[in-house]
Amino acid sequence: MDRFLVEGGRKLKGTVTVSGSKNACLPVLVASLLTDEPFVLHRVPDLRDVRTTLKILQALGKKVQYQNGTVTILADGALKNTLPYELVKQMRASFWVAGPLLSRFKQAVIPLPGGCALGARPVDIHLKGFERLGAACTTQQGNVVLSAQALHPAKITLRFPSVGATQNLMMCAALIPGETVLENVAKEPEIEDVSAVLRQMGAEVFSDEKGRLVVRGRSALHGVEHTVVADRIESGSYMLAAAATRGDVRVEGCVPEHNSMLLDCLQEAGVPLEIGADYVQVKPYDTPLKPLRVKTAPYPGFATDLQAPWMALMSLCNGTAEVDEDIFENRFMHAPELVRMGADIVTEKSIARITGVKKLSGAHVMASDLRGGFALLIAGLCASGVTEIERVYHIDRGYENPEGKLNALGARVTRYNPDKDDF
Ligand code: EPZ
Repeated sequence: MDRFLVEGGRKLKGTVTVSGSKNACLPVLVASLLTDEPFVLHRVPDLRDVRTTLKILQALGKKVQYQNGTVTILADGALKNTLPYELVKQMRASFWVAGPLLSRFKQAVIPLPGGCALGARPVDIHLKGFERLGAACTTQQGNVVLSAQALHPAKITLRFPSVGATQNLMMCAALIPGETVLENVAKEPEIEDVSAVLRQMGAEVFSDEKGRLVVRGRSALHGVEHTVVADRIESGSYMLAAAATRGDVRVEGCVPEHNSMLLDCLQEAGVPLEIGADYVQVKPYDTPLKPLRVKTAPYPGFATDLQAPWMALMSLCNGTAEVDEDIFENRFMHAPELVRMGADIVTEKSIARITGVKKLSGAHVMASDLRGGFALLIAGLCASGVTEIERVYHIDRGYENPEGKLNALGARVTRYNPDKDDF
């Protein structure tokens, strides 16, 4: 399996261009199941999770092409409505196919997504929503079996603004004639990308005056051509890498307001920024980094996906910072790895206390999830000496060409595979 060797002590300088959003393109790719017409998506990042999703669409019977960031999806005979466990176990987001398959076939069999490093990650909110739309949901031998004589529009209140459940239910409702109202939905920018695609496909999707998501579905939907929104988590991750190395980096092709909470926190911590319409310039600074207390929350709160990269930055603060991870029950696996690099972090339940240190030192560490993996990259860039990061496949799930983008900014990150390379 690939590893990264990261040479530390180098300030990042230059410009990095943000790729299309992983967490927007995965549900949008799945929306192609709602139609047999051609479906074209631009600015699709070359990620493991994207390739897994394309394999899922092929397994369900779609013809898929992926070239230079553009995915073209065509009908290729009848769609299937069961998914192989092999693919589901690789990526929880594969469960998003449930909604489209249910509305198209009134029957779907989807392996329950297992837990992952972040915790149990149940799908009860998804299933409760499907039941409100008229489906019977049972679990048999590790599969979710969804079936319905007929589906009907409904008013659904989510007990928690789950991103995936919001997307799954809006895609299902888009193919149910009538008005479905979703309350207490997620407001992440990726949801807006899915709404825009469903509107282009012919459904009416809008937020009403109470902030509820209204979906007026149709009995048939058209194909689309759409460009994926910029990845706010990738852009935030590079802003944090620039700030941690006290470099001078322009993160371009992003949507700054999608990162407004992070930008506020960076400025409050003393990192100078220049914020443009589609870029953020992280500027050099030599003043101490101020410690902050942040708590992760649904958008527009502090993004849970930026918690680990933020912790890497706070490892170098002047004082004691605090992170309260309020979304996932187990999202501090990067903390002990950062401690191996000299960070001073104590975690207790959902709270991590980070007492800044003067210097981190290179060490042999292991990525346990995609965002924690990028946190280790950031720490390696700042550390003295060389850091070796194992299980880089986690990082490849959510970051397109990370070593290429970082090395273009003056980093020295080498990808190698000890099983293959006689390094
Ligand atoms: C999406 O996951 C993202 N993944 C995650 O990004 C992100 O961390 C998460 O939203 C929160 O923002 C994709 O978009 C592909 P949730 P999702 O449903 O939809 C609990 C990354 O790093 N929950 O909003 O699975 C759940 O256990 C990934 O790119 C239920 O209890 O997240 C969690 O504690 C990681 N029952 C919380 O809600 C349910 O039915 C948030 O989950 C659904 C969720």
